[in-house]
Amino acid sequence: MWQIIGAGAIGCLWAANLKRSGQNVHLITRKAIANPVLHYQDLQQNKYRFNISSGQQLLNNKDPILVCVKATQVKQAILNQLPYIGENQMIILMHNGMGCAEQVQALLPYNPIICTATANASLVNAPLNIQQTGLGMTYLGAYNRPIAIANSLTSRLNNALDNTYWVENIEQKLWLKLIINICINPLTAIYQINNGKLQAPQYQQQIIKMCEEAIKVAQAEGIKFEQQTLFKLINDVINATAENFSSMNRDIFYQRNTENEYINGYLLEKARDYNINTPTIAALYQQIKERENTIADNEKQR
Ligand code: PAF
Repeated sequence: MWQIIGAGAIGCLWAANLKRSGQNVHLITRKAIANPVLHYQDLQQNKYRFNISSGQQLLNNKDPILVCVKATQVKQAILNQLPYIGENQMIILMHNGMGCAEQVQALLPYNPIICTATANASLVNAPLNIQQTGLGMTYLGAYNRPIAIANSLTSRLNNALDNTYWVENIEQKLWLKLIINICINPLTAIYQINNGKLQAPQYQQQIIKMCEEAIKVAQAEGIKFEQQTLFKLINDVINATAENFSSMNRDIFYQRNTENEYINGYLLEKARDYNINTPTIAALYQQIKERENTIADNEKQR
């Protein structure tokens, strides 16, 4: 069985595809749901309904836990489940941004932690009702210790969603995803545009600068990227997801807290450690922070 914390876009996408491939899933949701049914539409527009097991706490302390909440919620989600997590239980983190694995390791120092970088995407139409909007690669890799069952784990996940791979150097994939998010998310959130609009020259100029700044910080961390290749990879994502609104765009649109601290904020903290100047990334971080402050003020006045 798989236990999935978080019934958002990514949690439901995995739950639906694990169920479709005949695997058992228990979905941990924030509120209790009576007789939960998961509605899923795949890329070919096939529609599925799955009766699922769900509840507010983990069912057992053995089966692997897929943590599919946003970076801002990972620590609290683990804290909520702490009494039900076994010492050797595997924790698989699936979210945008970086910095959560460190937080989870501090709470669960003996548990094997796996980090992932995924390009799969889905859209939440209503609670427990999603549609797949993109099929991309998913990479998994060990964060704190070797995983003896890496192959069988990956193959079970790959049976659910194709293009799931185990990698020895997950850091490289995490940094690539981080830089993709740095280049796409704040711009699309500030200007409230879809990803495809970033093809316009004024945004491309900013993306070039952000790549240059991020590459220096990654290099200081021992992760190498070549400028032209990285710029092309970012534009491949922009083109492949042209119609999509990024997760940060949606968060600002719906007046929610964003993953700014775990995306731009994470990079800025590293840049400070190495004394590297990152003015473009810092300016966008600041603009998102200001929008978040306005959202928090509006919330208080309600
Ligand atoms: O955060 C997101 O929305 C996605 O990670 C990405 C790749 C930017 C596509 O929208």
